[in-house]
Amino acid sequence: MSTIKLRTQIPGPNSKALAARRTKAVPRGLSHGTPIYVAKAEEAWLEDVDGNCYLDFAGGIGCLNVGHRRVEVVDAVRGQLEKFLHTCVQVTPYESYVRLAERMNQVTPGAFPKKTIFVNSGAEAVENAVKIARAYTKRPGIIAFEDAFHGRTMMTLALTSKTHPYKAGFAPFPGEVYRVPFAYCYRCSYSLKYPSCDLYCVRHLEDTFKRVVANEEVAAVIAEPVLGEGGFVVPPPDYFKVLIELCHKHGIVFIADEVQSGFGRTGALFACERYGIEPDILVTAKSLGGGLPLAGVTGRAEIMDAPGPGGLGGTFAGSPLSCAAALAVLDLFECENLLERANELGAHFQRRAHEWQRRWPIIGDVRGLGGMQAIELVQSQQTKAPAADKTKKIAQYCYEHGLITITAGSYGNVIRVLVPLVITSDQMDEALDVLEAALASVCVQRNAVEELV
Ligand SMILES: Cc1ncc(COP(=O)(O)O)c(C=O)c1O
Repeated sequence: MSTIKLRTQIPGPNSKALAARRTKAVPRGLSHGTPIYVAKAEEAWLEDVDGNCYLDFAGGIGCLNVGHRRVEVVDAVRGQLEKFLHTCVQVTPYESYVRLAERMNQVTPGAFPKKTIFVNSGAEAVENAVKIARAYTKRPGIIAFEDAFHGRTMMTLALTSKTHPYKAGFAPFPGEVYRVPFAYCYRCSYSLKYPSCDLYCVRHLEDTFKRVVANEEVAAVIAEPVLGEGGFVVPPPDYFKVLIELCHKHGIVFIADEVQSGFGRTGALFACERYGIEPDILVTAKSLGGGLPLAGVTGRAEIMDAPGPGGLGGTFAGSPLSCAAALAVLDLFECENLLERANELGAHFQRRAHEWQRRWPIIGDVRGLGGMQAIELVQSQQTKAPAADKTKKIAQYCYEHGLITITAGSYGNVIRVLVPLVITSDQMDEALDVLEAALASVCVQRNAVEELV
């Protein structure tokens, strides 16, 4: 039985009416990936205000790894609703915050003593990670990567790479941020090939320390273990080990931004585990709260304790409702095979996407780690010129036919999969059938191209 049920043209009349109200009431700077207004959501599907049902490959941009409205999460929040909503942890703290910190210290990579603070959003967590690294090292500089995305606040925009629509028009940004190429092997900035490159992009940092910023001025290197907004780029397996060795050689703190790659998305609780690395600071958000706003900064105890009392915090930071939800999320990862499921879903996606790639030259690259999967679309496999317009058309075809997807990549030419890990195998195939039809709608068959030639 199919999950997707379309009763109206998409968007339906009720969504259209809401869009008209929205245009008057909300600034255009807040954009929407689809024109669909949601009425309810469960597991891996959602229903709009016109009664149309969709499968959801976006998962609230990676916030719903355990599924929409998981009953365990809803029950935990309901339980907290009966007790208190807010006291501010800086005034009268509560046990759930401490328990969640203890559990985060336990489940994050690294057997060393750790401490955790909670804030409201991924960007706020990244901001705090930078503050903590600076307080610890007493150095100003932060090294970030091309194609990185770390948020929309001013410091995180300085760390974010993509100009439009994120950075353009919002300068000046805070200083002391230095950008270097990431290990985006499909589009290597140095035109090299792994493994013969011998990870030149990492080793080149020694040169950066001579020509751009002195190593003793650098507090931290911040990286996403798998680029999120930047297009689900997975660096070579030994990349982060070499990078972290280099950081530690120079007394630089390594910050892993696992806001998007965390909480089971890549088939491990944290993507760092997939590389066998232990970051000094690990930033989490999105699926941590199971749908409620919550973010965390977990790190080596001596680093986390560098800022003095009062140096960290926020009025709503670590809300009791969000802490209750996050404890339920961690329980779910303990008692369900969500990590294994992420790997199964990823492998299935790869099988089908590689088939599409053999058929359609528009698919330049198929890549991912566990359940964090994507296809990069190009005009030609030789030039690799990004096919951004067709990517947009594919995303539009998808939602018009019952599948919510989101795009990514500095060139806007990547379709990414952040499906709730509770999707059934039948639903996954139903969703992939829509994506396949969307690709067919913009593609010329490979043999047809060859015939033309
Ligand atoms: C890797 C990464 N870091 C930080 C952020 C910012 O998180 P938020 O939108 O919760 O501020 C995001 C958001 O997509 C992200 O993907």
